[in-house]
Amino acid sequence: MNCIKPITNLSDIYRPFNIGATTLVSTSSDGKTDVMAAAWACALNYDMVSVVIDSTHYSRPLIERGKYFALQLPLAQIADKVMYLGSVSKNDDPEKLEKSGAEFFTVPGFEDLPLVKGCGVWVIFERVPEQHVEKAYDLFIGKAVRV
Ligand SMILES: Cc1cc2nc3c(=O)[nH]c(=O)nc-3n(C[C@H](O)[C@H](O)[C@H](O)COP(=O)(O)O)c2cc1C
Repeated sequence: MNCIKPITNLSDIYRPFNIGATTLVSTSSDGKTDVMAAAWACALNYDMVSVVIDSTHYSRPLIERGKYFALQLPLAQIADKVMYLGSVSKNDDPEKLEKSGAEFFTVPGFEDLPLVKGCGVWVIFERVPEQHVEKAYDLFIGKAVRV
């Protein structure tokens, strides 16, 4: 069996590079919270990450205005909740989080940030504001502040 296939389109070059697992992104600002799935997340250096959050998502103004966000690596057991959090927008359903079936918890000092039970990794990041890349590429950078 030949598993090696050429990349024929420039728009497909992400395939060998975006090999990371799907993450869950928790955001919070002005008393509002959200959690969404994000596969476009990766380490930037030893303690920093980048994550892409589309401008149409409810999570977007929350990450733009909030000081912190969390990235989590969900386990297979909560795959159905991940798919719900990644296919329903809080723009359409304000009760998205409640209806997702996911269970949430918080940690001291970050009580506004809903962390998801059933993950293997939780890291809280402080957003590093980079207005140009945020606007041009929907890309947000964070520096780890709590594991
Ligand atoms: C597996 C998976 C990966 C996703 N990755 C991303 C991503 O990296 N960036 C993004 O902006 N949206 C991504 N999405 C889509 C958002 O998670 C989805 O649109 C979500 O409903 C947005 O929720 P919100 O509007 O409440 O913020 C992904 C969805 C799934 C199912």
